[in-house]
Parts: sequence; structure tokens; C-alpha cells
Amino acid sequence: MGKKIESLLKIQKIYGINGLFLEFEKFKESEVIMSPKLTKEKLLEKLAQEVKNCKLCPLWKTRVNIVFGEGNINAELMFVGEGPGYEEDKQARPFVGRAGELLTKIISAMKLSRNDVYIANIVKCHPLKEPDPYLRNNDRPPNEDEIKSCLPYLEKQIEIIYPKIICCLGSTSAKVLTRNDLPITELRGKIFDYYKDSKIKILPTYHPAALLRNPSLKKFVWQDMQLIMKMLGIDQ
Ligand code: URA
Ligand code: SF4
Repeated sequence: MGKKIESLLKIQKIYGINGLFLEFEKFKESEVIMSPKLTKEKLLEKLAQEVKNCKLCPLWKTRVNIVFGEGNINAELMFVGEGPGYEEDKQARPFVGRAGELLTKIISAMKLSRNDVYIANIVKCHPLKEPDPYLRNNDRPPNEDEIKSCLPYLEKQIEIIYPKIICCLGSTSAKVLTRNDLPITELRGKIFDYYKDSKIKILPTYHPAALLRNPSLKKFVWQDMQLIMKMLGIDQ
């Protein structure tokens, strides 16, 4: 317990919060059990507030909404995609378009729901080819500068949520979080350590949008999801 408090204090300090504010959850045989739940909630709220007016990269100019991420703040499994698309930008939620529907199905097949996991992206604003957010099929991957500007937000999110496994969806996410430049065909299905904390494991797989274009890749994603289920102790 001492270690847990120490690490929470460290995280709080990053956010300029001094002192202890832990939630005292229940008393059991005169032992005080402290839960980090409230603290995590507050830290994520504070981070979301910080991101809200972000202008660190040019993507702020064409965004309709920031897509911060959503899900269970105590999730053991986090999915990280590339960046918001058309629908995500309009709804301010990650993975709610066609690829998102498929991701929701994949999560159900893992005997989980979207409320059990946390879903985020490498960048929080929609990268566009043409500067019109109301044009469809206008997506592009984020560039190196955009990724560099936005990544610290995701790193803080990961530090607060502290999942056991991060599943990278697609090549952009896989390359950034494994710090490896190999193609996704090489990175998928392999387990890496998160560069900031080796207790967090990184497992890349194909992006659901790739599965929509090429359904023959589905079997590989399912293999990867089965490995994640095994690591999380979910019966198959
Ligand atoms: N593709 C992504 O990479 N992220 C989303 O949130 C939606 C589509
Ligand atoms: Fe800021 Fe990230 Fe949006 Fe760029 S993509 S403006 S860094 S929140």
C-alpha cells in the first residue's frame, strides 16, 4: 500500500497537486482500504481540462471537437488508435464510425464491453488532407510534429489509468508506442514493454479500418485478441 500511495503522490505532483487526497473506500477489520479511484478521476478531469484549449499543433485550427478518449478509468486493457476521423471529430468520442463499430464487435468477442476498456488515440484532433472538417474521406495519418506535440497527453493518460496492456490499433500507434519502425505485419501479435514503464505491455494489431478493407486480416486480429484474453485471464 505504501508503494501505491507513493506512486499516486508522484502522479499528483506532476499535476501540481500537493498533499494526499485519496478516497477512503471502506473499513475492513479496522484496516483502512484506500482507493485511488477518485484521485484518478480527478487527475483525468484535470488533464482533459488542460487539453480542452490546446493549440500545440496546427490541427486545432480545423478541429470541431477534441477527442480526449473514454472508457473505464481502471481498465486493464487500453486500445490506442491513430487519431479521430470524421465521425469522432463531430461526436467528440473515439471509434464511433464504421471502424469503431467493428472495434466494438471485437471487444464483445473478447467477452468485454466498451465500458470495461479505455479507448484513446495517438493524436486528439482530426488530421485532414484538405482543411475542411465537413468533407468526407478527408483523413490522413498525423505527421511527426503533430505526434510529438500530442503524445505527452496520451502518456499522462496512460500513467493515470495504468493499464496492464495497451493494444495498438494500426501502424501509427504501433510504431509510436513500441518505438519501432518495422511494418505492422512484423509488429502485430508481439509483446513489447512500454518505454516509460516496463510493467505495462504493448501489443499491436491491425487497425479495424484495415479489416474493413481486407477481411482476410480478421483471423490475425482474433489471434492477437486471444493472446490478450489469455494475459488478462479471461476464459476462452
Ligand atoms: N480511427 C482511429 O484511429 N481512431 C478513431 O478514433 C477512429 C478511427
Ligand atoms: Fe493539441 Fe493534440 Fe490537438 Fe495538436 S492534436 S492541437 S497537440 S490536442
